[in-house]
Amino acid sequence: MRFGSLQLDSNLFLSPLAGYTNLPFRLVVREVGGVGLCTTDLVNARSLIEKNPKAFKLIETSPADSPLAVQLFGSVAEEMREAALMVEARGAVSVDINMGCPVKKVVKIGGGSAMMTELDKTAALVRGMVNAVKIPVTAKMRLGWDDDNLTAPDLARALEDAGIAAIFVHGRTREQGFGGTVNLAGIRKVVAAVKHIPVIGNGDVVTPQAAKKMFDETGCAGVSIGRGAFYDPWIFRRTLHLMRTGELQPEPSFDERVRVLLRHLDLMLEVFGEELGCRMFRKVAPWYSKRFGPCHEFNKRVVQVATKAQFDEILDSYIAWRKQFLGDDGELLQRFAPAPLVASFMRDPASTVREHIPVPKGPVEVW
Ligand SMILES: Cc1cc2nc3c(=O)[nH]c(=O)nc-3n(C[C@H](O)[C@H](O)[C@H](O)COP(=O)(O)O)c2cc1C
Repeated sequence: MRFGSLQLDSNLFLSPLAGYTNLPFRLVVREVGGVGLCTTDLVNARSLIEKNPKAFKLIETSPADSPLAVQLFGSVAEEMREAALMVEARGAVSVDINMGCPVKKVVKIGGGSAMMTELDKTAALVRGMVNAVKIPVTAKMRLGWDDDNLTAPDLARALEDAGIAAIFVHGRTREQGFGGTVNLAGIRKVVAAVKHIPVIGNGDVVTPQAAKKMFDETGCAGVSIGRGAFYDPWIFRRTLHLMRTGELQPEPSFDERVRVLLRHLDLMLEVFGEELGCRMFRKVAPWYSKRFGPCHEFNKRVVQVATKAQFDEILDSYIAWRKQFLGDDGELLQRFAPAPLVASFMRDPASTVREHIPVPKGPVEVW
């Protein structure tokens, strides 16, 4: 897949998840394979310019963490331009703009004309960045404020004219938050609105079949996956395989999940040190264990892990405890298998199963 000067090996993307898409997780996803481009957590442009150490930690990278996009957030054109130059100088292959839904401001000031003013201002900000850097500048947006204000197609068209190289669109409105069904027809309208640039669909892709459905029903050029990658770092590889061969590979085995879990922990310790790395891993490990089958013995202890040695002991005793749920072949008995993951837009309307990654404090309204 291609956008701007960038040639990617796959049209699958890792979506920014503030607090989660750090260097260790990106490396895990890349090692498992199938992802074309990873994006950092959202980074405040002003904090970067002010050389805030926390902002620099968010863009920390390594040679294996490539190709990498940095996502910037800010509304001051000069700051966004300067921050884009900084991330380009540090090796990012593209810079993504976290784009709010313009209608919010319209609603606040209560005037339709304000929206065009806002669009003009946004387009000017984009033009400033596009002219400043050589790397492609992309934008990530939602469908709009609510179902009556689906502004993403207009915004996407205006941004294309301003030089944006690709659009990422989360198929929900701001009003929907992270609930409700992802609107594939809404994504399709954004695809239809632009002339040349790729549109990358996003939202609730938790299985390879869901990615395929998003491609098929929206005509999008790529699919971006956030939470689905956290439940399942293998999703990119399995999706790519499905798209290329039509064959759905089985989910990874327990041993493979444990192998990648341990690799993830090692990388966390390398990047954040043992104390902080273990503390951060307390919220990571339970996402892996969701697919282990019965896991409360693991979860209740892992949320207190403080050292690598402790983690190893927790895992060993969990593996011993888990044996009671295995058949003679050493595999989890079917009745203990976790329920299959199903995307919102593929779910039986009667079903209410939902899994949540807690959304952190922050400018949620613009994601
Ligand atoms: C915990 C969390 C953090 C997020 N952080 C960001 C962010 O930093 N920037 C952004 O544009 N979107 C952010 N999002 C939105 C995701 O990138 C994505 O658009 C949304 O979760 C839908 O895709 P998914 O269902 O594949 O996760 C975040 C979502 C969650 C749940």
